[in-house]
Amino acid sequence: MTMPRVSSECLKTTFQLGAAEEIATYFPKHKRKISEIAETNFRRLSHWLQTGVWISERSLLSWVRKDECHRVSPLFKKRHLYRKIVRCEEHMEVEHRSILQKFTESARFLVRFILRAKTVGSIIPSSHFLAREIVRQIPKHSLGAPKRYILEIGPGTGVFTDKIIKRLGPEDELDLVEFDASFCELLREKYKHLKNVHVYHMSILDYQERLGEYTHIVSALPLNSFTPDFVHKYFPHIQRLSKPGTTLSSFEYIFLPEIKQIYLSEDEREKFKAILDEKEAFYSAHHHLSHIVFRNFPPAKVLHHVL
Ligand SMILES: C[S@@+](CC[C@H](N)C(=O)[O-])C[C@H]1O[C@@H](n2cnc3c(N)ncnc32)[C@H](O)[C@@H]1O
Repeated sequence: MTMPRVSSECLKTTFQLGAAEEIATYFPKHKRKISEIAETNFRRLSHWLQTGVWISERSLLSWVRKDECHRVSPLFKKRHLYRKIVRCEEHMEVEHRSILQKFTESARFLVRFILRAKTVGSIIPSSHFLAREIVRQIPKHSLGAPKRYILEIGPGTGVFTDKIIKRLGPEDELDLVEFDASFCELLREKYKHLKNVHVYHMSILDYQERLGEYTHIVSALPLNSFTPDFVHKYFPHIQRLSKPGTTLSSFEYIFLPEIKQIYLSEDEREKFKAILDEKEAFYSAHHHLSHIVFRNFPPAKVLHHVL
C-alpha cells in the first residue's frame, strides 16, 4: 500500500480553509459522541455561511477519489476518516443499495426459504441492527495492523458481509462460504470489485481452505434446524479452521427453540435435544458474551466466543 501524501494547497482552495490541517476539525473524532457531532456540524454550518462551501465526509471522499494526487492522510491519522480515505483509494467500498435492490434481495431470500427452509432458516435477511452487533468482535482496520483472515459462514444476501467489509484493511482477506448457488451468484456479482473477498459455493463441512489461519469467524447457520450429525461435526470443524484466540460470532433466534419443542414428535424432540446438548457443551467450554437484538425479525441472541 502506498503512503498517502498531503496536498495542502489544493485542500485549501477546494475547501476554502486557512490551513490544510484545519479540515480535521470539521469531523468528529468519535462518531458516537453527540456533543462532538453537534460541534463539528456547527463548524460546518458557520463555514458554509461564510464561504458557501459545505465540508462533509462525502465531499471530502469524492474529492479524494477525483484525483490520485489528493492524498491527505497524515491529517487524519487515527481518525475514522483516514480509514475511509484509504478504503476509497483502494476501491474497497460497498456500493450503496437502493430500496429496490434491497427489496429484490429480500424477495430472493424468501424464494430460497420456500425452496430450502431448513438450510436458509429465515424468511427475510437479518436486520442492520443484528449485523452491526455480530461483527463487533472484528476490530476496524488500523494502519500497520497484521493481516487478518476472516471467514463468514452462510452469508446469504450479504447483510453481515457489507458490515465486515467496512472493517477490512487492504491486506485482509474475507472468505464467504455459502451452500446456496443462487446466493453465491448474487454475492459474486455484488463483491466482484473487491479483490480480497472470495466466494466458495459449498457446505462449510466440506470447506478445507486456510485451516488454522482464521482470526475471526462469523456464522449465520441456523443450527437448530440442522441434523444432530451435522452439529456434531460442525464445532470440531470450526476449531480446525481457527487458531488460539480466534473469535466466533453467531446468533440464534430467541424463544424459537422453546416454541419448536411444543410441536415436535417424540423422536424429533430427542434429535433436537441432541443438538441443544451439543451446542451447550461447546458454549460452556468457551468463554462467551451474549447480546439480545430485539430489532430483528425474529429477535435474536448474538453469541461471541473466543476459541
Ligand atoms: C439464516 S440464513 C442467514 C443469511 C444471512 N447471513 C443473513 O443474516 O441474512 C443462513 C444461511 O446459511 C446458509 N447455509 C446453510 N447451510 C449451510 C452450510 N452447510 N454451509 C454454508 N452455508 C450454509 C444458507 O444458505 C443461508 O444463506
